Amino acid sequence: MLMQTRNQSNLLSKDFPTDFIWGVATSSFQIEGAAQVDGRGLSVWDVFCKQPHAIADGSNGDVACDHYNRLDQDLDLIASLGVNAYRFSISWPRVQPLGQGGWNEAGFDFYGRLIDGLIARGLQVHLTLNHWDLPQALQDQGGWANRSTCEHFVRYALEVNRRFGKHMTSLCTHNEPWVMAVLGHELGVFAPGLKDRKTAMQVAHHLLVSHGMALRDLRSAGATMDLGIVLNLSPIYPASDSQGDIEKAKLDDGLIARWYLDPLFKAHYPSDVLEHLGNDAPVVLEGDLDTIAQPLDYLGVNYYTRNFSSAGNPWDVHSSGNEVTDMGWEVYPQGLTELLCRLHQDYPVKRLRVTENGAAFKDEMVDGMVDDERRESYLREHIRATSRARALGVPVDAYFAWSLMDNFEWASGYEKRFGLVHVDYATQKRTPKRSALWYQQFLKA
Ligand code: FCB
Repeated sequence: MLMQTRNQSNLLSKDFPTDFIWGVATSSFQIEGAAQVDGRGLSVWDVFCKQPHAIADGSNGDVACDHYNRLDQDLDLIASLGVNAYRFSISWPRVQPLGQGGWNEAGFDFYGRLIDGLIARGLQVHLTLNHWDLPQALQDQGGWANRSTCEHFVRYALEVNRRFGKHMTSLCTHNEPWVMAVLGHELGVFAPGLKDRKTAMQVAHHLLVSHGMALRDLRSAGATMDLGIVLNLSPIYPASDSQGDIEKAKLDDGLIARWYLDPLFKAHYPSDVLEHLGNDAPVVLEGDLDTIAQPLDYLGVNYYTRNFSSAGNPWDVHSSGNEVTDMGWEVYPQGLTELLCRLHQDYPVKRLRVTENGAAFKDEMVDGMVDDERRESYLREHIRATSRARALGVPVDAYFAWSLMDNFEWASGYEKRFGLVHVDYATQKRTPKRSALWYQQFLKA
């Protein structure tokens, strides 16, 4: 606890309002484990992990951080950081094994204890309904490509609200629809591992429609928590001054950002992207765009890095000389300020929340300590970038560090560590890293 931290004198938590939301974030599949107990159904990620070579280290989410069995200890850990909020997700197949039909009381019981435990510790509840672990039974019927999944999702949303709504500060319908749609259905590198662009665009549309349907019905049911959605966003720059690269950067921004932001805030899809998609554009029913554009209490922003686009190679890596994380992502805090300002300028956002921000590094445990100075500096500089956006008049009221602890990093397995707290997977021992202690001191100041 006495580790020295440097360079923080000009960044103080008191520069933020006292009601600013400070948290850490996780998601169900990445930490819970206990995949085959208490009636939990299979999710698309359980099945995807079994595909040969799908996960870098051949691992899966069967045990993960064993959070399901270590709930109280983990709640104490969260509280010990001095945050006032926790962002987590419900595993839909844990509470409704088939994604339709009967509810699983044992599953709801777990989330009931989690939420009660947060409230008892004075922590706000920021709940995500869909952080990618769709019930496999729904995938067997087409998953998000099948429009009826939207109705099943709304029933699930209403049930969660009925049980826990009054304890929640915010509800997020979907985490990063672009990732689910494109990485999951076009590039096939995430569950369910499909490779078809038309399917991916239909999935993206259904995720947005189901979001709008859920917000509309939650509000009619009297839900009072903040309602929103979380997008993965980053500034996208052309790799060079060439006209081709400039156009490609605009198109990529259209596919990744505007495809979601425009319908959510302006009730239309961007015309340049529609034109580019041609026959791959989704089937949109009458009224869908109005459904999608329900008022948002907040927009959640997950920010990790900036991106470059090149007309030549779409995944061209631009080397700026800046530090890169273990994911190969450039450390670029200014991008967060820029992004928040752009969102505020281009869209009528009421409130922005940084719902994820963090970095993977090759941490080493030495004498029982992890001296992750680079993660500490990453967090500090991105919090500073958030503060700059606020100073420029952008209404940002929350910052969540990704992640509370090391966990299952999707296709990268357990090799990439994003935690502020180190997890020894052999013993499940949790050890706060230097970054956790820095965050704690920063919040105390
Ligand atoms: C985001 C995901 C989150 C985590 C981070 C590193 O895209 O929402 O679950 O994996 O990346």
